[in-house]
Amino acid sequence: MAKKSDAIAVFDSGVGGISVLKELVRQMPGERFLYFGDSANAPYGTKTADQVRQLTMQAADMLLSRDVKALVVACNTATAAAIDSLRKAWPDRIIVGIEPAVKVAADRFHAGKVGVLATPVTLQEERFLHLTEKFPQMQVFPIPLPGLVEKIEAGAPEEELEAFLAPILAPYAGKLDAAVLGCTHYPFAANVICRLLGETTQLLDGGKGTALQTRRRLEEQGLLSDGEGQVIMENSAGDPKLIMRCAQLLED
Ligand code: DGL
Repeated sequence: MAKKSDAIAVFDSGVGGISVLKELVRQMPGERFLYFGDSANAPYGTKTADQVRQLTMQAADMLLSRDVKALVVACNTATAAAIDSLRKAWPDRIIVGIEPAVKVAADRFHAGKVGVLATPVTLQEERFLHLTEKFPQMQVFPIPLPGLVEKIEAGAPEEELEAFLAPILAPYAGKLDAAVLGCTHYPFAANVICRLLGETTQLLDGGKGTALQTRRRLEEQGLLSDGEGQVIMENSAGDPKLIMRCAQLLED
């Protein structure tokens, strides 16, 4: 039986989910969070959907067997590949996923041009196709960015991110109303993406929506806590530098 004092587990393939954790802490400062990044197995987004499902189930099993009252899958790729399997395996637990903020884009730019920057797995999964089908009047451009997650995991400087992204994003410069950052790592490259796409393109991500949804689910079950906020970081790579990097990204 979940208790108010239990932690909220937050999971990502690596450091990316920290962009969601930031929103979670902002929305629920009195909660204890247990952040787990699976950097030993990152990137997820260029694996097969089956591999991603398996890794996600493994991580969820490890986290849900501890004293946690909810699991936030702060990874679009893991959500796309595994959210149905997770909910089937743990029907009584609170499990919240994240998906590209296409609906937010549609609300703001009804018949606009919207790029969705995400991993190949996210963009290939049926979940994404169903999501875009709901907004036929909007022009959606899927923009896979394989290789970017590795650079963000490694803490690459902005110049390196810019050199990598410039040729991929050049065809879209000045042409999009919005760009959805459909991978939780990408907000950490937001400055560069904004520079390359131009100031007229609004950047959107699903972090806030996911945090609000988590709060709603906990509230419904009377599980919100107003205790001493705390964040515990764990990472499968066992590299203390990665934990420090996560702490740093959370502070920035
Ligand atoms: N951060 C993850 C996402 O939101 C994926 C990163 C990866 O490819 O491992 O999609």
